[in-house]
Amino acid sequence: MTSSRHPRYPRRHRTALVAALLGASLGAVALAAAPTRQPAPYGARHEAAEEAPREARLRPAGAPPTVYAHRGASSAAPENTLVSDEVARRAGAEWIEDDVQPSRDGVPYVLHDDTVDRTTDGKGRIRDLTAAQLDALDAGSWFAPAYAGTRLPTLAAQLEDLRVRGGRLLLEIKGPHTRDEVARIVAEVRDHGMADRVLVQSFEVDALRLTRELAPELPLGLLRSTLDADPVATARELGLAAYHPSDDALAGRPGVVRDLHAAGVAVNVWTVDRPARWQALAALGVDGIITNRPAELAGWNAARPSPGAAG
Ligand code: G3P
Ligand code: CA
Repeated sequence: MTSSRHPRYPRRHRTALVAALLGASLGAVALAAAPTRQPAPYGARHEAAEEAPREARLRPAGAPPTVYAHRGASSAAPENTLVSDEVARRAGAEWIEDDVQPSRDGVPYVLHDDTVDRTTDGKGRIRDLTAAQLDALDAGSWFAPAYAGTRLPTLAAQLEDLRVRGGRLLLEIKGPHTRDEVARIVAEVRDHGMADRVLVQSFEVDALRLTRELAPELPLGLLRSTLDADPVATARELGLAAYHPSDDALAGRPGVVRDLHAAGVAVNVWTVDRPARWQALAALGVDGIITNRPAELAGWNAARPSPGAAG
């Protein structure tokens, strides 16, 4: 049963959010130090996780924008790691965004850059490193000493973690991928029974076309730094469930939100960390906001007066 004021956030969840916001950073450090700690399954605590996938993407009238945690809770924990995902989950993010790329031997890993230099203690292009080499890297110390020992997750490990702990995955296919590489990603999603909890996004049109061909059941989102001349036509041509413009691009033509909604396409905007922009985008009616500050956005959503509320 959800409250009428915040359909996505039942009262008990809003109370839990306060604790989550206060404890997120400390909790992250504790998780890094004690990785075997198992929280309650996400689905037991988050009613939003039980919604149909389409409803999870298209924002119901009066509901706040859906929180997409960009590379996990990347402002509070090392990006694209399981601990970053966990901080985001505990803080109330409904979706976790992560990037996927293959190792030299074809294993999909969760990493944003095309090298491991910035976010691990290693060096080199991910596509030049084997799974064994990637598994040996420390992906946490660069962010803070408390995260030492954090591993670079494989996509399989991340899907399993999400399956057990809960949450939905906004999975970005990062950079060009071959048919076999996309097929491996699709197989991992299916093997973990996560097809109904994944939204695939990419800047790479070819990767989206391959995904559609290989796994028509997976919803697709197109990332854009600049808007298409006709976003609705692009969405139809690619069979998109969602259109993902940058905040700057959307600010130049906010009317495309109405057009895309009329076509049944959700609009999720990246990467937005300032409350002033959250307010503008919520008022514009975007469905989701992709942010490095998911705890703050979840709290902001929960505290925001519902439309028509007094005071
Ligand atoms: O989800 C949108 C965003 O992730 C796209 O940019 O470079 O952070 O992957 P990037
Ligand atoms: Ca990304």
